[in-house]
Amino acid sequence: MRHVADLSGRVAVVTGANSGIGRGVALELAAAGARVVVNHRPEEDSRRRAAEVVDAIAQAGGAAVAAAADISREDDVEQLFRVARDHFQGVDILVNNAGIEQPAAIQDMTLAQWQRVIDVNLTGQFLCSRAAVRAFLGRQPKPPPDAAAGKIIFISSVHEVIPWAFQANYAASKGGVSLLMQSLAQELAPMKIRVNSVAPGAIRTPINAPAWNTPESLAALLKLIPYGRIGEPEDVARAVAWLASDDSDYVTGSTLFVDGGMTLYPAFRGAG
Ligand code: BGC
Repeated sequence: MRHVADLSGRVAVVTGANSGIGRGVALELAAAGARVVVNHRPEEDSRRRAAEVVDAIAQAGGAAVAAAADISREDDVEQLFRVARDHFQGVDILVNNAGIEQPAAIQDMTLAQWQRVIDVNLTGQFLCSRAAVRAFLGRQPKPPPDAAAGKIIFISSVHEVIPWAFQANYAASKGGVSLLMQSLAQELAPMKIRVNSVAPGAIRTPINAPAWNTPESLAALLKLIPYGRIGEPEDVARAVAWLASDDSDYVTGSTLFVDGGMTLYPAFRGAG
């Protein structure tokens, strides 16, 4: 059996856990022993897919509960963390995963497109982090190996460092996540709260289906990935599980790129 991080006895809130990377993270954390709050948007299709994630966890012998919340709304986020408290008596791990894209050329980008992406990808991560920190504070750090009083993992993107034409709103949100994460890590380390990011590259999920669902688009995408394959949600989920576990107890303020080398300027190999 492959080694999984030990998260037994822990409670994790995973935002946007009904699909894609969030779904993979929820399944992985549950496999590692955590009880998981599977957040999803209130719409019916998201609700149905979140219920499927909860069922899959239960069938594998784990514990999970679904919780609807638009994480860009303050009241919804309060309600989300109430679910963690009511069902699982608290929270130990927050995975700030929920994110969206609304591409447009800058001259055509509406304020609504700009605002919605910032609201979900950046303000939502602030609101969830604040709620998690309020839950963590006041708890005593546990003795080693449970040294941290709480852990926050941001799901950022390679676009926290790679500029992205036609997705200026998205890249700006992820650039914001980078310094939000580091600022919180600096602020919260004395309280024994660890804050880190995982920055995925191209992962096979619905958000970027056009980038991989035809042979032509996949070939173009692979030119950007030195390691020669697209990523899978499990690639990201395993990194998140490690950062959520006490195996990474001395790691805070770091961004772990899980990108097959996408951030290595592959066009410069043998050029420049
Ligand atoms: C985006 C994907 C994109 C990847 C690499 C991610 O943050 O959500 O759509 O394929 O970055 O460019």
